[in-house]
Amino acid sequence: ARAQRPGYRCTECGWRTAKWVGRCGECQAWGTVEEEGGASAARVVRPAAVSAPAVPIGQVKAEIAQARATGVGELDRVLGGGLVPGAVVLLAGEPGIGKSTLLLDVAARLAERETVLYVTGEESAAQVRMRADRIGAVRDRLYLAAETDLGAVLGHVEQVAPSMLVVDSVQTIGSAEVTGIPGGPAQVREVAANLVRVAKERDMSTVLVGHVTKDGTIAGPRVLEHLVDVVLNFEGDRHSRLRMVRAVKNRFGPTDEVGCFDLHERGIEGIADPSGLFLSRRSEPVPGTCVTVTVEGTRPLPAEVQALVGPTEAPQPRRTSSGLDPYRVAMVLAVLERRLGARLGGCDVFTATVGGIRLVDPAVDLALMLAVASAAGDKPLPAGLVALGEVGLAGELRPVRDVRRRLAEAARLGFTRALVPAGALESTAPPLPAPDRKDRQLVPTRGGKV
Ligand code: TYD
Ligand code: MG
Repeated sequence: ARAQRPGYRCTECGWRTAKWVGRCGECQAWGTVEEEGGASAARVVRPAAVSAPAVPIGQVKAEIAQARATGVGELDRVLGGGLVPGAVVLLAGEPGIGKSTLLLDVAARLAERETVLYVTGEESAAQVRMRADRIGAVRDRLYLAAETDLGAVLGHVEQVAPSMLVVDSVQTIGSAEVTGIPGGPAQVREVAANLVRVAKERDMSTVLVGHVTKDGTIAGPRVLEHLVDVVLNFEGDRHSRLRMVRAVKNRFGPTDEVGCFDLHERGIEGIADPSGLFLSRRSEPVPGTCVTVTVEGTRPLPAEVQALVGPTEAPQPRRTSSGLDPYRVAMVLAVLERRLGARLGGCDVFTATVGGIRLVDPAVDLALMLAVASAAGDKPLPAGLVALGEVGLAGELRPVRDVRRRLAEAARLGFTRALVPAGALESTAPPLPAPDRKDRQLVPTRGGKV
């Protein structure tokens, strides 16, 4: 047997390293990397009294965690039905994106039937009251406390005994029992662990607001994400009113479901039918645009890709993209040049989405490619066209999932023509009458039905 080499491990996030370092390479915490106990250091643990004997699984009572609707449909969709009593949700997002507005709205809706406690560590009680006045969230059973000490927060929970607790934000609450600055890894972990414990003990739904750093990670230790039951990401372009909430972890429901919201002066509103938001409506087709249908969670969303190609004298032509994965853009441009003979070397290429949506679905490739080709040739694509398909390095068009649902949504919005990978419709249903081409199928639409 090989002797185990000594290793080091961050006590905050579990990051492992062979050499000792003063600062964790993962969570960037100082002085948290400690030597791991090797095989020889493992202590012998003796059997102890059990809290309850193990029983055959069939005799275990299945207490189904019953989600309660919050009344905000778009949020319930992401949560998988609503808030589960005792569950802890982390709502993460950049400053100013609308986290406090959304949670105050949800808290007010729940406060119509239950007692809700909103703890603000970030703003003063007066500031939250002003927001509540602005968005119409003043309720008798909505309690507000401005507090930054964990012990005091737990004291408020005892006094108010709410069925829902909001902590805005977890980074602003600190515990006197723990060293380290508020918002630092040790503090955040302590605060979150205690709130999770209290939430479970009291069967209290808890939502923690979490700040996101510039690079998009949740400030504080990774363990925060492991401690909570649900992690929601709050996304959006600050220059637009559209906001999206996405579940990235959910112990009670699906992940990757997306809720759409409109953030405005008088509050935040769910958008039950977001289709059409990511299209620019024009009467005449314009060169350099192509519509695709992305699937966000279970929801198909038509979205427009735009491209602008212009000659440049610069030695390094520009490749700028917004809302699209720069790697996919580079790949699609390379395929266009190498496989289809497009000449983009002396040109700047700008690509973008409409309405601030981020397109990550590989099905977007074909529309991106057509938009660039259309821009380069200064020829518009046919009106009423959507394009679906992943582009491979060899220039092949690969099938994508949910083609029928995507086409149905496109048809609902009035699109009449679709370019899809060959055979995309054959596996699920008999093929539609369509003029066959070598590498793709043109699917005609009749009467709004694809
Ligand atoms: P907020 O909910 O405080 O964001 P977060 O909690 O994520 O930091 O603010 C959301 C947006 O509300 C912010 O971008 C600005 C806007 N806002 C108004 O529209 N009107 C107002 O009077 C104020 C104070 C903010
Ligand atoms: Mg806030």
